[in-house]
Amino acid sequence: MGDMSRIRNIVILTGAGISAESGIDTFRSEGGLWEQHRVEDVATPEAFERNPDLVLRFYDMRREAIQTKLPNPAHDALARLDVAWKGELLIVTQNIDDLHERAGASRVLHMHGEHLNAWCTWCDTRSRWSGPLIDRPECPACGARALRPDVVWFGEMPYQMERIYAALRSADLFVSIGTSGAVYPAAGFVQNARDLGAQTLELNLERSQGSAWFHETRLGPASVVVPEWVDEVLALS
Ligand code: APR
Repeated sequence: MGDMSRIRNIVILTGAGISAESGIDTFRSEGGLWEQHRVEDVATPEAFERNPDLVLRFYDMRREAIQTKLPNPAHDALARLDVAWKGELLIVTQNIDDLHERAGASRVLHMHGEHLNAWCTWCDTRSRWSGPLIDRPECPACGARALRPDVVWFGEMPYQMERIYAALRSADLFVSIGTSGAVYPAAGFVQNARDLGAQTLELNLERSQGSAWFHETRLGPASVVVPEWVDEVLALS
């Protein structure tokens, strides 16, 4: 990796691949989530309108399953970096699991929402929620039986995009971990970062669709390549 001495501000993008070794399905590998369910049936506002029970059951199942999983060494390593890094650092995750937080990271931004939140379509309040939504429970804030998963569906705007672009503008290093580069706007972040002069590094099991945009790519399971990289960064800083 390039000269670490001039690295102050780091933006890290994570995707489903960082949680794969924790036992959470990725989306686009064979047998992945989008082979078990059609996106248009469970992950769009139209799907929710058309068949809310199917969508609620899909996310109830994922919310329950995710709570039985544990962070893996990749999450632990990023948490170590977050705690030790004196400069700016932001982990922008596309994942709706809370494994980054459970590993001890705090500078985490969930651009596609969180499975442990419920979002009231009546009063717009987001509440911490670990149980099912299929029985249409009451919103803790307003009492309406109008809760939906706090997950960004296809066709909806990812969260906190201004904050993400501000972080990319000041990034000296952009690292992409465990994402296929198949879904925008996240897939475009490497181009933004590189155009703005950041070094770019990809840590992934296989080359992603955006691989050509990275100064360096290291291939391997996240539980191996992420701790190796973090140890390197902390030794150099
Ligand atoms: N270690 C590192 N990378 C891995 C591992 C692993 N153990 N296992 C899989 N990967 C890589 C795959 O090679 C792939 O490039 O992780 C990536 C997973 O890609 P996707 O399944 O497409 O997941 P992701 O990139 O997070 O999808 C982006 O699409 O469906 C939407 O909202 C959903 O947030 C998701 C978004």
